Amino acid sequence: MSGRAARAHGQGQARRASFGFREVDLDEKQGLVDEVFDRVAPRYDLMNDFMSGGLHRLWKDALVAWLSPPRRTRSYEVLDVAGGTGDIAFRIAGRSEGVRVIVGDINKEMLAVGQERAATRGLDGTVTFEEANAEELPFEGGRFDAVTIAFGIRNVPRIDAALGEAFRVLKPGGRFLCLEFSSVDIAWLDRLYELYSFNVIPALGQLVAGDRQSYQYLVESIARFPNQARFKMMIERAGFQKVEYRNLTGGIAAIHSGWKL
Ligand SMILES: C[S@@+](CC[C@H](N)C(=O)[O-])C[C@H]1O[C@@H](n2cnc3c(N)ncnc32)[C@H](O)[C@@H]1O
Repeated sequence: MSGRAARAHGQGQARRASFGFREVDLDEKQGLVDEVFDRVAPRYDLMNDFMSGGLHRLWKDALVAWLSPPRRTRSYEVLDVAGGTGDIAFRIAGRSEGVRVIVGDINKEMLAVGQERAATRGLDGTVTFEEANAEELPFEGGRFDAVTIAFGIRNVPRIDAALGEAFRVLKPGGRFLCLEFSSVDIAWLDRLYELYSFNVIPALGQLVAGDRQSYQYLVESIARFPNQARFKMMIERAGFQKVEYRNLTGGIAAIHSGWKL
């Protein structure tokens, strides 16, 4: 199935969710996603570099540049939802003296890798790691100055619930930024990207991590994710205002930004 056909096929369907190209019960999806990240956690960072040729680093830099946290602060607090091994949090901490970042993720294996990386970088006072489900965040409303999520939201079964929770935990005036794979609108690049995704990435997963299946899920989940315009509408439906997006690398990824005003 082509990426576009899969996207069209995967829309709608209450109580069902797509796990890659498979339709599963909504309540079944999280367990399947957790199994994927249990398996990939030890090689997650290495595989990101292999699969994207290092591009994910530039995309993450772009998210943090757009967030533009204060250079010096005493009170700025960010929640990085589905923050995994801490890439976004470390970048924010690197740009902002006095910032506090909480990495919330549902997966203990990913958090453990992140915690170890934070300790190695001497950031364990600035960046903290907490088990948190994006659909039911364990934080009081109106707490955070910014909520970020990178390559996480397409894994969450109830995307609307996660967007609603991001809105709830933000302060009035707070900022939401989401980096996610998106839709390429340059025909030749789309074709090339699709060929690369479906042929090279699962093979790389097998070669580097001995795990084809998890990387097959990864590329299928990307193909199923709503395009830029649809995702923008979902963010607006959650209550955010001034929602806009920027394409990265021809739309292979996109950053969406919204404000709680
Ligand atoms: C592709 S990784 C992204 C990690 C990190 N943000 C990055 O950009 O490198 C996706 C992450 O989403 C997390 N995740 C999946 N479902 C989640 C949920 N319901 N709530 C919170 N995190 C979730 C996974 O455990 C995993 O760490």
